[in-house]
Amino acid sequence: MQLTREEERMLAGAEGRGVQKAMQLLTALGEVFGAERLVQITSAQVAGVSYGNIGDAGMELLEDWARSGAKARVAATLNPAGMDLSRWREMGVKKGYHDRQLRIIKAFSRMGVRATCTCTPYLVGNLPKRGDHIAWSESSAIGYANSVLGAMTNREGGPSALAAALAGRTPLYGLHIRENRRATAVVEVEAGAELLTAFDFSVLGYAVGRALGAGIPFFEGVRRADPDRLKIMSAALAAAGGIAMFHIRGVTPEARGQALAGLERVGIGRREMEEARLRLTAEGSPDLACIGCPHCSIGELGDIARLVRGRRVAEGKGLWVWTSRGVYARARRRGYVGAIEAAGGRVFTETCMVVCPLEESGYRHMITNSCKAAHYVPSTAKLKATVADLHAAVGSVMEG
Ligand code: F3S
Repeated sequence: MQLTREEERMLAGAEGRGVQKAMQLLTALGEVFGAERLVQITSAQVAGVSYGNIGDAGMELLEDWARSGAKARVAATLNPAGMDLSRWREMGVKKGYHDRQLRIIKAFSRMGVRATCTCTPYLVGNLPKRGDHIAWSESSAIGYANSVLGAMTNREGGPSALAAALAGRTPLYGLHIRENRRATAVVEVEAGAELLTAFDFSVLGYAVGRALGAGIPFFEGVRRADPDRLKIMSAALAAAGGIAMFHIRGVTPEARGQALAGLERVGIGRREMEEARLRLTAEGSPDLACIGCPHCSIGELGDIARLVRGRRVAEGKGLWVWTSRGVYARARRRGYVGAIEAAGGRVFTETCMVVCPLEESGYRHMITNSCKAAHYVPSTAKLKATVADLHAAVGSVMEG
């Protein structure tokens, strides 16, 4: 790889062993993927935060990196942790887990990575511009950044995103190169697919992810899609197919001018949507509704508050809502948090149903409007999972 003089110095250790380690990781990655050089980034988003996922080995590695004194050179934020940092006891999290989780957050903070602990960094100030090179590692946020914001990121792992933050650079390959951002398949969304709710967009993403497996789909026939719908679809595309970018005619910034002739074409209609939904539907009656994968926006929290106002969560059931601390603060001021908690629900921050130890909650069957959450929860938390739209999911745990 071609390195600048400054990058050579960083790699040789002139800026300390933490930066050197970051450069070693980035140049090794660049060699593997055939990158000719590094490119400067404006933003990093770092996953691999939950103690449940990275364990003692990951914690010790981060602490060692932090001791080196290396600091993030760009805006850098964290993905969700394994617990709500202040209300962890209410989630059934054990003290030993809590203490280790705090050590992880502290190590990241020492390296200058802001402990936003959210998968929606773009809702709390880490908002790259179109054309910016960035290094993000949360799969739903990667799809959103590439497709909706028009920023450029590969699917980074936690360590490579952290290394990019500390070096201010990432290897130039994959989705950092314009030609690699072209559509690779056309998805014809048939009128029967009826895309109305955010849940419909999640199911569409899941169906397309399963049908294509990978690549960059170009959606035809999606007429309206607001940011919340695109956010939840990005998550489902990533969960079902590892898809890091998509285009929607008339909606996303890089859709115009795509060459579609000769591309594989896939039709998605009512039948494919129903198949995707059934694949994520377990037998039995759910006892915990989880909303907020990806983390809720202020608008989504308002929708939930209106839905539960004047109602109560039934005895033995739960309504857990997940968001970032930044959005929580706004929702609290508007009375949304109060309305949800008055109904017996809980609004948790800094974590989510997939990365916290949900099995400790005592619930056995989760219902959610997010296909990504229903895809992962059964394997991580060993709970059954079912998908439904917001009204049905919340309604299933309310009295009456
Ligand atoms: Fe976010 Fe957790 Fe879903 S990180 S996208 S809420 S699995």
